[in-house]
Amino acid sequence: MHAKKTVRSGIVGAGFSANFHYEGIKRVYGVNPEVRGVYALDQDQAAAFASQRGIQHFSTLDALLNEVDLVHCCVLVAGHEEVAVAALKRGKSVIVEKPLTGYLGDGSADFHGDRFPKIDALTHGLASVERMLEAESQSTGRIFYAENWVYAPSIQREKEIIEKTNAQILWIHGEEAHSGSHNPTYAQWKFSGGGVMIGKGCHPLTAALYLKSVEGRARTGKAILPATVTARTAALTRMENFQDAGFIRSDYYDIDDFSMMHVTFEDGTLATVFASDIILGGIHNWLEVSANNHRTRCLINPNTAMRVYNPCHENFSDIYTVEKIEQKQGWTDMPPDEDWFTGYPQEIEAFYHAAAHGGAVESDSILGANTISTIYSAYLSAEQGGKEVSIRTFQ
Ligand SMILES: NC(=O)c1ccc[n+]([C@@H]2O[C@H](COP(=O)([O-])OP(=O)(O)OC[C@H]3O[C@@H](n4cnc5c(N)ncnc54)[C@H](O)[C@@H]3O)[C@@H](O)[C@H]2O)c1
Repeated sequence: MHAKKTVRSGIVGAGFSANFHYEGIKRVYGVNPEVRGVYALDQDQAAAFASQRGIQHFSTLDALLNEVDLVHCCVLVAGHEEVAVAALKRGKSVIVEKPLTGYLGDGSADFHGDRFPKIDALTHGLASVERMLEAESQSTGRIFYAENWVYAPSIQREKEIIEKTNAQILWIHGEEAHSGSHNPTYAQWKFSGGGVMIGKGCHPLTAALYLKSVEGRARTGKAILPATVTARTAALTRMENFQDAGFIRSDYYDIDDFSMMHVTFEDGTLATVFASDIILGGIHNWLEVSANNHRTRCLINPNTAMRVYNPCHENFSDIYTVEKIEQKQGWTDMPPDEDWFTGYPQEIEAFYHAAAHGGAVESDSILGANTISTIYSAYLSAEQGGKEVSIRTFQ
């Protein structure tokens, strides 16, 4: 048996996503991951992240890049391009968290997500995408696009069904929703590149774009791409008449908390994607595929793999049940391994394998680019009350 290859890696960012990336690295089995350390703008947070895990803390991005082959880009959207391009310029591969990149405003003090022309988001968002793709094309390194929905086991099983039955997908509908992101920066367009339509909508949208490309490649050898989008957004918790009962986050500054994207693909088939921050009862992540020969419901989270009845909340005070649930009393759908159903360890395994051995990955920069293009075209549509907008695609 050959010895496993070693991949030296570093994590940029030390917050929420850096944590689940680190948990994913611990489960890599096909190669030998060697985490050299962490760097983040927030040096104190990076130092704490490092000491809790017994890894090194770098004080500059360059110092981290000197020591690694593979970089985890787990920073706010505002830093994705900067970190990814810096890594690629040094010939390193980079795992970029979702969304690939974004438009963060014009930098002015009075920038407000409600008021700027959305064509700016599309134009500048795509310019950022192009700079990242250009940096990738000039580099020996690669971009791995960390869209965990692509690697969720239910989506990968659906891929198998589509490929083996030559299915034609007629309509995909899906949703990612909960009662509001915990991250304070999420409230502002200038950090996140938009609201819930990009922050959460990117997950089911990318899964839909992915499955249509799987279908196209299986039947004709060519991905089926998105052609047009019509969309609506709303800021329900910012309405003057919103009655705040205290269960839904409601301190957003200039972003949407409800969105609907309706995509028409170049073959005339459809995908409808909902995303919102106004849903109680825990996270609601699902995707349904209506094909000519089967119908699949991918219940990412919650799902019914494990159902638990708990007579009183306090009984489970030190037990984590499911993401974003308000309470633990009564029946709970409690995934026995939430990360696994969500696709986190599978994406990290796939990216380390590709970094060591080469080969295609299911979620790459082109998929990330088409997601950005569709979403900012959707913001443009929503600005015009849902007018259909053509989508520029990357191949
Ligand atoms: N796939 C998922 O389910 C999922 C879930 C949450 C967040 N995310 C994505 O992860 C990314 C980060 O979100 P988070 O929740 O981890 O944020 P966070 O606020 O918890 O952590 C961000 C970290 O990045 C650092 N940082 C910010 N800008 C930086 C820069 N330019 N250079 C170096 N360090 C920088 C901060 O100091 C902090 O340590 C976002 O793109 C977000 O969309 C993905």
